[in-house]
Amino acid sequence: MERTCISDLRENIGKTVKLEGWLQTLRDQKKMQFLILRDPTGLAQVAHFKGNDEDLAAKISMINVESAVVVTGKVVDNPVVKLGGLEVQLETLTVDNLAESPLPFDPFGETLPTLDYRLDWRYMDLRRPFNALLFKVETLVEQAMREYWTQQNFIEMHSPKLVGAPSESGAELFTLDYFERTAYLAQSPQFYKQMAMAAGFERVFEIGPVFRADPSFTARHMTEFTGVDVEISWISSHEDVMEFQERWLQYVYQRVKDVYGDEIKQVFGVDLVVPEVPFPRIPMADAVKILKERGYSLPADKKGDLDPGGEREIAAYAKEKYNHDFVYLTDWPATVRPFYHMRLEPGSPLTRSYDLIASGLEITTGAQREHRADVLAKQAIEKGLHLEPIQFYIDFFRYGCPNHGGFGLGLARLMMVMLNLTNIRESVYIFRGPTRLNP
Ligand code: 4AD
Ligand code: MG
Repeated sequence: MERTCISDLRENIGKTVKLEGWLQTLRDQKKMQFLILRDPTGLAQVAHFKGNDEDLAAKISMINVESAVVVTGKVVDNPVVKLGGLEVQLETLTVDNLAESPLPFDPFGETLPTLDYRLDWRYMDLRRPFNALLFKVETLVEQAMREYWTQQNFIEMHSPKLVGAPSESGAELFTLDYFERTAYLAQSPQFYKQMAMAAGFERVFEIGPVFRADPSFTARHMTEFTGVDVEISWISSHEDVMEFQERWLQYVYQRVKDVYGDEIKQVFGVDLVVPEVPFPRIPMADAVKILKERGYSLPADKKGDLDPGGEREIAAYAKEKYNHDFVYLTDWPATVRPFYHMRLEPGSPLTRSYDLIASGLEITTGAQREHRADVLAKQAIEKGLHLEPIQFYIDFFRYGCPNHGGFGLGLARLMMVMLNLTNIRESVYIFRGPTRLNP
């Protein structure tokens, strides 16, 4: 017999169906047993009259909640049943995998154990409806991103994660033995998405793993995360990249709202707002003044970079002034940007770069790239880099590479912002941090 999904039961009234799922609760009464069965599409009540089959009744009494079971039974209309006004009258039951008892925790309980404990039992934690919805939304987010890209003739790229030179900085770098030499885990597809521009691909994207040996324990950092990267040729400045990104994000939000808006409101309590374009833009020099005026002092050791408190404060400003949850901070000082960002003008201390702050959190860094090999080499040396390990990268710009720019977005950070989650550990399938390698 083929499986029927719980959401399709109503179309099967009067028929015998097979359901596969988890035993969420068992009410074992004197004459009747009621099993609440869960599959990814919903909950159903399965009823068993004990007098029908005493052996089966005894077997059911022994099944612990959260066991994986297969049942067959007849679907009957029963308006008094809370779950969809129907129930399944049990005919057969097989236990596919008996859950041990007690459970490490009850994923459907009123109170939940600590986040760290839940991460130890992540598969159990993922059984919560909260998580089921989160990853359905994430699936649609990625699908919508791809829809937008493919409508605009982007090419999908898969760049290597074993690399010979760091792209972002010498810090935060995982090194590993690679036969007779040292290899690194890619900190971003940066060099390779730019290579696609030199190859004439013009517009590329990649969704893939990114590694950062960041020892910090914050609610926003992971040592491995999913990066969403875009690179576009023939631009006039970083403004073109920002224009692309805001429309793309607006499309993604609209798709998510159309499909999951109601469920998101129910489960996350979030009324999803499709952002209006253009997003507000604030040059960093102004942002620093605004922060000062609002009495927020940036830590001196940041040298022109923003700290998380500064990001939140500037977001509060953008919300008050523009009623917008997204804000682009533009034209960052070269001192706090990677060597490959193009200067605003030749010799300027500022760069053609931006960060996208969403609800007070950096979700993207983007820039126009320096695509002139000689200028690029000079900027690398100024940053104290050795040319030899990155010569292969500088060579990309020797035989006809159009001007270009792009951005990197952290998928888990976008999910945090979209669903109003306070910790990135909640918004990623499996969290990786300095002290977490299992599960
Ligand atoms: O800001 P980042 O370091 O920029 C780059 O990697 C550039 N290559 C992007 C470019 O095209 N210019 O990383 C991009 C984004 C961040 O804005 C943030 O959303 C996310 O990746 N991110 C992290 N997410 C989780 N944990 C971490 N440790 C992250 N580091 C960056
Ligand atoms: Mg950044």
